[in-house]
Amino acid sequence: MAIVDLFPTSLRLLGRPVLVVGGGTVAARRAKALLDAGAHVQLVAPVLSAPARALADAGLLTWHARSYESADMANAWYVVAASNNTVVDARVASDAEDNRTWCVNHSNAQDSAAWTPAVATVEDVKVAVNAGGDPLRAAAIRNAIAAALESGDLPLDVYRRGADRLERRGLGTLEHRGSVALVGGGPGAEDLITVRGRRLLAEADVVVADRLGPRGLLETLGEDVKIIEVGKTPGHHPVPQSEINAILVREALAGNRVVRLKGGDPYVLGRGGEEAIACCENGVDVQVVPGVTSAVSVPAAAGIPVTHRGLAKAFTMISGHDDLENVPHGNDHTVVLLMGVGTLNRSVPVLAAAGRGSDCPVAIIENGFGKDQRTTIGTLGTIVALAQAGKVRNPAVVVVGDVVRVSPLAPAELATAHYGTRETISTIS
Ligand SMILES: C[S@@+](CC[C@H](N)C(=O)[O-])C[C@H]1O[C@@H](n2cnc3c(N)ncnc32)[C@H](O)[C@@H]1O
Repeated sequence: MAIVDLFPTSLRLLGRPVLVVGGGTVAARRAKALLDAGAHVQLVAPVLSAPARALADAGLLTWHARSYESADMANAWYVVAASNNTVVDARVASDAEDNRTWCVNHSNAQDSAAWTPAVATVEDVKVAVNAGGDPLRAAAIRNAIAAALESGDLPLDVYRRGADRLERRGLGTLEHRGSVALVGGGPGAEDLITVRGRRLLAEADVVVADRLGPRGLLETLGEDVKIIEVGKTPGHHPVPQSEINAILVREALAGNRVVRLKGGDPYVLGRGGEEAIACCENGVDVQVVPGVTSAVSVPAAAGIPVTHRGLAKAFTMISGHDDLENVPHGNDHTVVLLMGVGTLNRSVPVLAAAGRGSDCPVAIIENGFGKDQRTTIGTLGTIVALAQAGKVRNPAVVVVGDVVRVSPLAPAELATAHYGTRETISTIS
């Protein structure tokens, strides 16, 4: 069906009488949409479906409990014929034509004077899609556009940012207040950030970025977005935490929407708590958007579940930055070390002393989800030498315990039944 002859427009029906003929579920859906637009809905139908009855019982529309009469058309600005009866719908459409009133005929799309598009509303943006007369196709396209607007992949905010600039120049009256969002960016893959985090990033005026996390997304920001790099490496903090806190507060108090884009989750060895407190102490609105922590996701990228029925019921995540203390006992209690490469030789004896033999499996996954992801697997007895020989470097996650045996990358002498293969776990290198 060609759509070149369609003329898209948006009707403002607030306070205007409209007519819906039919009491079924389609009629109810259309009536609801018209009510949402503020129209006064007159609904004509001898009987009502449950959703239509709910609208009538709530007093949201006027129900005429009878068959359609031509006089019903008199004051309507817009008509929906959805009676489930082609003869009745045709009569309604014909009366509307005589009356010069736009009518959607649900039993004859081909001859209908108007079509109902698939609609999505995201904040103050309405998207209406017609797709060659195929409602399923229109709905699929509508859903994709709505998802892209929600995620920030489509620029929902460009216009809003423009409006803010107007306000800053004193030309508008929009209320605008700075804020900070501590966004967990996940372990590095651009599509492992949450939808909320992605959207806030797309709306940001200022992004305070880490060394880890989805740095590729910084390339997607507009040229007017200020990016402040504060990345740390183990033992090397070019911008101290107190200065990072001060930057967040300063930029927000200047009226900017600040995103603090962090690797993994902001509250897992990420000092997000300190940043949130600094914002609160200085009267800055702050929200925390959780992220996919490397502690769980990076092992998964090597095919290692941190718990696995029959192998481990619990896991403990520990910073390897300082010497280990009080490590839980046993191969069946997985230990995940972040920042653990530099201290590995001191951690190994502590882990072994906590009820693990030198044959306890260990995996080190470097650059999880990156192009150069690499996995080194050995045991508590061999891993230090293997790491030295392979020049293993941070960022890396160390996994200790029997769960390592599940990885398709585990050597035959350590392996147990796999749940995948190198081919089936696409993220593995
Ligand atoms: C300061 S901690 C931050 C952890 C982060 N907040 C999280 O939830 O994943 C940094 C450590 O996380 C680990 N890490 C983060 N991303 C990683 C990645 N993509 N691959 C391997 N290790 C990673 C490394 O152990 C690194 O030294």
